[in-house]
Amino acid sequence: MTYPRKHLLAIEGLEPPHIADLLDLAESYALLNRSGKTQRDLLKGRTLINLFFEDSTRTRTSFELAGKRLGADVINMSVSTSSVNKGETLLDTASTLNAMHCDLLVVRHGQSGAPSLLSQKVDAAVINAGDGTHEHPTQALLDALTIRRHKGRLEGLVVAICGDIAHSRVARSNMHLLTTMGSRVRVVGPPTLIPAEAARLGVEVFHDMKAGLAGADVVMMLRLQRERMSGGMVPSAREFFRFYGLDAEKLAHAKPDSIVMHPGPMNRGVEIDSAIADHPTRSVIGEQVEMGVACRMAVLDMLARGLRRNV
Ligand code: CP
Repeated sequence: MTYPRKHLLAIEGLEPPHIADLLDLAESYALLNRSGKTQRDLLKGRTLINLFFEDSTRTRTSFELAGKRLGADVINMSVSTSSVNKGETLLDTASTLNAMHCDLLVVRHGQSGAPSLLSQKVDAAVINAGDGTHEHPTQALLDALTIRRHKGRLEGLVVAICGDIAHSRVARSNMHLLTTMGSRVRVVGPPTLIPAEAARLGVEVFHDMKAGLAGADVVMMLRLQRERMSGGMVPSAREFFRFYGLDAEKLAHAKPDSIVMHPGPMNRGVEIDSAIADHPTRSVIGEQVEMGVACRMAVLDMLARGLRRNV
């Protein structure tokens, strides 16, 4: 097993064998979870702290479940009721958690780079659970695992990532992971929502949904992140849906066996039509959530191996 780092802060910089090993390990946890068996001694005696400065349903819950399934003591720190509200800084919070001998620290923060900063101040292995518009590495891993389970590979697949690319850490992690693993990645959206760095990342840019979806194996829709916009970047939700929302007519341009993904939370009727989101054969959105637990078990397992090596 190869994983060269103490922390998981980003997908950028990981090489194909590191990603493949994490996905293989996650696949074994997906099978274990479906069999109903557990492996509760793997992280016995380890403490995992979930430190979320932004809202989350899927990521926080699945890290909690993943830690518990591997036997860790899991603490969910509620930032809204913590001393952060009394003005405690991020670094003082980190020192406090460090003094409690936390082994694995899962961090979500609105500022890009916050988990990286914390990783320099604590002894724990730090996992980025989403930082600003930078990265959301475990989301990209669970997306890749879901794709691989349906398509048998990542190499050579045409993956269209659609909507608000500019504000999406999910898109950024997916662009890094999928291009590293040999997929042909397209980003599709209005010019105001495509970041200037897209071309540097080795992806094709489309502003028309039908052209961007033509022949795609995977259609990944993203949430319109109005909370990160400075205004005037998109027309009304209704108009956005007309041009960039995924409905049956637009999906008909992708391959007939293409799968539809969304990291959640979804804005139904804005970036995706309910009939597509709930489609019994094309939508794999529920499976993405299931794979999230398996991938997070794999990441915790892999990082805990590193902690053991460093004892
Ligand atoms: N996909 C994702 O990060 O969802 P949450 O915000 O619910 O964690």
